[in-house]
Amino acid sequence: MNASAFAKIPYGMFIITSAFDGKIGGQTANTVFQITSNPATIAVSISKQNNTHLLLDKSRKAVISCLTEEAPFEFIAKFGFRSSKNFDKFSGINFTKNADGIPVIETYANAYFETEIISTMDADTHTLFLCKTVNAVLLNDKPTMTYDYYHKVKKGLTPKNAPTYIEKQRI
Ligand SMILES: Cc1cc2nc3c(=O)[nH]c(=O)nc-3n(C[C@H](O)[C@H](O)[C@H](O)COP(=O)(O)O)c2cc1C
Repeated sequence: MNASAFAKIPYGMFIITSAFDGKIGGQTANTVFQITSNPATIAVSISKQNNTHLLLDKSRKAVISCLTEEAPFEFIAKFGFRSSKNFDKFSGINFTKNADGIPVIETYANAYFETEIISTMDADTHTLFLCKTVNAVLLNDKPTMTYDYYHKVKKGLTPKNAPTYIEKQRI
């Protein structure tokens, strides 16, 4: 099996946020894609080790922000290489809260989706959350950052908890 073959699968770049019991959190994710249009559902794969997993599991709600090419590496890294378990990712970040108290990231985003989790699939190290969209907001028409752009232009790495991580490989 050639592990580099997996690097040929394209993705976008997203921030997934959630909140439960007054606690907010969020993380970078690339494994987001639309599943159906009616109802409009979106799937996301989240590591069971992530604080965001805990919040999604408890609240059954998520906000998914779609990042633009303008998002700096530092912004992506803040949400993608640190955990809300022991670090306040939201300090110094502009955000509002929706009616459920979930942070809505509009900075460096071109769209966001307010969702309710309607189903989950156990995928060993990760859970696939199926999110039903209850509100979709188009912010601007700036180009969405692809995962390839993140690697090639932003020179970004893949952390261990990302579904696309391959040991001793940079993909
Ligand atoms: C470019 C990039 C893509 C990532 N994609 C995912 C992903 O799709 N799913 C996932 O569970 N983690 C992914 N991660 C890793 C999480 O963002 C990371 O484990 C984060 O620290 C979790 O934070 P939390 O513990 O506050 O939830 C990605 C990280 C980066 C930098």
